[in-house]
Amino acid sequence: MRNAYPDDILNKQKGERDSAQPDFWSQRYASGRTPWKIDHVPHRLDAFIRSLRSGSNILVPGCGEDYRAIEAFDRAGHRATAIDFSPFAVEHTKKRLSHLGDKIILGDFFSYPFDAGAFDAVYERTFLCSLPPRLSKNYSARVAQLLQPEGVLAGFFFYGEESDPPPHPLTELKALEIFGGRFDLLKTEAVADSLPIFAGKEKWQEWRLRSNTTIQ
Ligand SMILES: C[S@@+](CC[C@H](N)C(=O)[O-])C[C@H]1O[C@@H](n2cnc3c(N)ncnc32)[C@H](O)[C@@H]1O
Repeated sequence: MRNAYPDDILNKQKGERDSAQPDFWSQRYASGRTPWKIDHVPHRLDAFIRSLRSGSNILVPGCGEDYRAIEAFDRAGHRATAIDFSPFAVEHTKKRLSHLGDKIILGDFFSYPFDAGAFDAVYERTFLCSLPPRLSKNYSARVAQLLQPEGVLAGFFFYGEESDPPPHPLTELKALEIFGGRFDLLKTEAVADSLPIFAGKEKWQEWRLRSNTTIQ
C-alpha cells in the first residue's frame, strides 16, 4: 500500500528521532512538502464547533499551519489556543491570525506550562499519527492533564493499513490501549471529505475524559 505521506515524509531513514525534532518539521514546511495540509475547514469540524457551548476554551496541539481550524473556533466565539514547536509553522500561522497574538504558541505540547484542566476541548488532526508510537501514551496522558473533567478530545484520527509507517495508524485495539484508561469513546464516524491521501483511513472521533481520572 502507498505511504500516506509520500516523498520521504516521516520516512524510516529520517527516523523517529528526527520527526520528534522541530527542525524536521520546519524543513518540511519551508520546502512545501506538506501533503497533510488542508485548505478548508472540514465539514465534521465545522459541525463540532457549532455543537460547543459558547465561549469554550479550546486547544489545538501540533497546529502546524492549519490556521483555518483555529480561525473557525475563534469566529464561532470560542477561546482558541494553538501550539506547535516548529518556528516556521508558528510564524506562518501567527501572520494569518495576527489578532490572536500570543494565543498561537511556539512551544512543545508535552512541556509547555499550561494550567492543568485549562481546556474544554482539544482538537486533533494529523498530530498523534505523526508522533513516534512511544509517545502515544504520553499524548493521552497530556491531553487528560490539560482537559477539564468530562472535557473532550475530538478530531480526525488515522486508522487502517499502512505498510510503511509513519504516519502511524491506529487500530481499535491500539486506540483502546492509548485512551481506554482515561477516556470514553462518545462518537466514531467515517469521514466523507478527507484529503485523497487519507481517504477511507480517517475517522472523526470524540473521546470524553472520565470525571474520576486522576490528573498527574
Ligand atoms: C503532520 S503535522 C500536522 C499539522 C496540523 N495539525 C495540520 O493538520 O495541518 C504535525 C505537526 O506537529 C508538530 N509537532 C510535532 N511534535 C510536536 C510537539 N512535541 N509539540 C508541538 N508540536 C509538535 C509539528 O511541528 C507539525 O507541525
